[in-house]
Amino acid sequence: MAARPKITVVGAGNVGASVAQYAVEKELGDVVLVDVIEGIPQGKALDLAQAGPVHGYDSALVGSNGYDETADSDIVVITAGLARKPGMTRDDLLFKNAEIVGSVVEQVVRRSPSSILVLVTNPLDAMVQLAWKKSGFPAHRVIGMAGILDSARFRTFIAWELGVSVENVTAFVLGGHGDTMVPLPRYSTVAGIPITELLSKDRIDALVKRTANGGAELVALFKTGSAYYAPAASTVEMVEAILKDKKKILPCAAYLDGQYGTKGLYVGVPVKLGRKGVEEIIEIKLLPDEQAAFDKSAGAVRELVEKLKL
Ligand code: LAC
Repeated sequence: MAARPKITVVGAGNVGASVAQYAVEKELGDVVLVDVIEGIPQGKALDLAQAGPVHGYDSALVGSNGYDETADSDIVVITAGLARKPGMTRDDLLFKNAEIVGSVVEQVVRRSPSSILVLVTNPLDAMVQLAWKKSGFPAHRVIGMAGILDSARFRTFIAWELGVSVENVTAFVLGGHGDTMVPLPRYSTVAGIPITELLSKDRIDALVKRTANGGAELVALFKTGSAYYAPAASTVEMVEAILKDKKKILPCAAYLDGQYGTKGLYVGVPVKLGRKGVEEIIEIKLLPDEQAAFDKSAGAVRELVEKLKL
């Protein structure tokens, strides 16, 4: 067994490279960075390795255009795919990224049959469903990153609104990672106090709206791509929770088998993340309007999945 856990990151673009960076800065394991573009994964791995002496990490970093170096990974983070351009929805990416993610999954599961897959590519929920089907893995070892990012955005906006530390703010966002995501103000708190006690309904609605539009706000600013620091930070929180067996409760895209009234579909819900992957799905009681919003969001995910004919 390797001394350090092995983390493969597929896709050495902004998201993948930032995942590699945050992962080695926390010394979570050795990292293999894979990308089809010649020189980029090798160059970024070398560059990050040379930051090691300054930041004080000994994680090994390898870049590759192939998959042989990924063998026996503990975790494979899949960021490969096209990013959104202005005016494009996440769903526009569906068919193109399904092709890319499908072939990546085939390559990685053959070499790392016991790994845990963490999907980041959009449209997120549909890509996780696809990866689960293609991998043949049990559902608890295939997980999607979106809820942590969406709730981190909501937490940021709440902290700014109230002029408090982001560390005091927790937030819950359920549903698919898309325009129908379901931020839950009742379960979003500042030092334990629900924000419904601290902010007017109008202000909460405005923050919820900005959260749901959070990805598009960044795409509009960048013009040539989408967000990467916060998506990468959110992904690494999952990697850390899994590798350190933290049993952390985090919102992730997980396979629902009847929970929240949804069956046979990946959607964002709170889960317990540990060394086995999704160790439990936490079911919280929703009010009728929250359940309706969740159902609508799950319905939007199901539509995409049906288009992929999985
Ligand atoms: C976002 C895009 C990448 O939320 O989905 O930033």
